[in-house]
Amino acid sequence: MKTNFLNRDTPLILAPMDDVTDIPFRRICRQLGADIVMTEFTSCEALIRGIPKSLARIRIQPDEHPVGIQLFGSRVESMEKAVDIASQLQPDFIDINCGCWARNHAQRGEGAALLKDLPLLERIVAAVVKTSPVPVTVKTRLGWDQNSIVILDVARIVEQAGAQALTIHCRTRNQAYKGAADWQWLAKVKATISIPVIGNGDVQTPVDVRAMLDLGCDGVMIGREAIINPWIFKMSRHYLETGEESAPPSPGERFQICLQHLNLAEQYKSPRWGTVHLRKHFIGYIRGFPEAAHIRSSLFKINDLGILRETLLAYQDHYLRVV
Ligand SMILES: Cc1cc2nc3c(=O)[nH]c(=O)nc-3n(C[C@H](O)[C@H](O)[C@H](O)COP(=O)(O)O)c2cc1C
Repeated sequence: MKTNFLNRDTPLILAPMDDVTDIPFRRICRQLGADIVMTEFTSCEALIRGIPKSLARIRIQPDEHPVGIQLFGSRVESMEKAVDIASQLQPDFIDINCGCWARNHAQRGEGAALLKDLPLLERIVAAVVKTSPVPVTVKTRLGWDQNSIVILDVARIVEQAGAQALTIHCRTRNQAYKGAADWQWLAKVKATISIPVIGNGDVQTPVDVRAMLDLGCDGVMIGREAIINPWIFKMSRHYLETGEESAPPSPGERFQICLQHLNLAEQYKSPRWGTVHLRKHFIGYIRGFPEAAHIRSSLFKINDLGILRETLLAYQDHYLRVV
């Protein structure tokens, strides 16, 4: 039975991010207030072929729910088959990626390339909705480029095809990450469709979250800021509820989450890949520590999780002594 996966009003959602939103980081973000998390985007063709790395990307753990699995592809039948595979893992929803800007994906007609072929986009969404036992959502951009902004058409198509929410990264494909996200489109899309609209793009502070919600959207999705500041979810919820900004996490809290993240990485990653994955988060975890830049560059050289833990604990001792 299809159920409502939006577990609260104004959900704060961790954006799907390739090589970032693995199980350890999703669990950290859930703990720090993300209402919903999503897997990294995963190729439907690779899932059908049973590629172990791709199957690992869509694994989910019981304490992650609500969690969505994000799939990409450009062939209707492949998407249907991949949905069958993904839904066996019992996600709360399946999300279709219609926004990836990367050239190799675009050349295969996947991701944001679907914005240039709206009939295909419609067929894919309709087929996935029909196949999926759980709700289906779509994540997209405004259009291919500034001269082909199609988001209002996409919104209508997606709603009519039966999707239950639409996330908009308020940039075009050609912008990639350049320029500012144009949030004004969120209000226009809200006025066009009735399904929930999730805003995304350049949210960095609790004040940004409030401002995006004030444009009328139903939830906010946060990506890059969460990588270096997963506390953004908790701090934003506090701000939404009280109107007051909360203090940033103390160095002790940062350290505790960093070590917890390391422990999770040990469970799910090889010693080497665990360290590589953690590197993206160090800038935030050791922010405010004396000699943070020096600490960071030394942590970057470590390729083993055990050594990383010892080094972090030594820095923690040092820090506690000097402060
Ligand atoms: C490292 C990285 C990987 C990403 N991978 C995905 C992905 O797998 N699927 C997706 O829909 N978007 C992906 N995105 C885009 C984000 O989900 C999000 O739309 C974008 O970063 C804008 O939000 P932000 O300004 O909060 O970061 C990725 C972004 C980054 C920075």
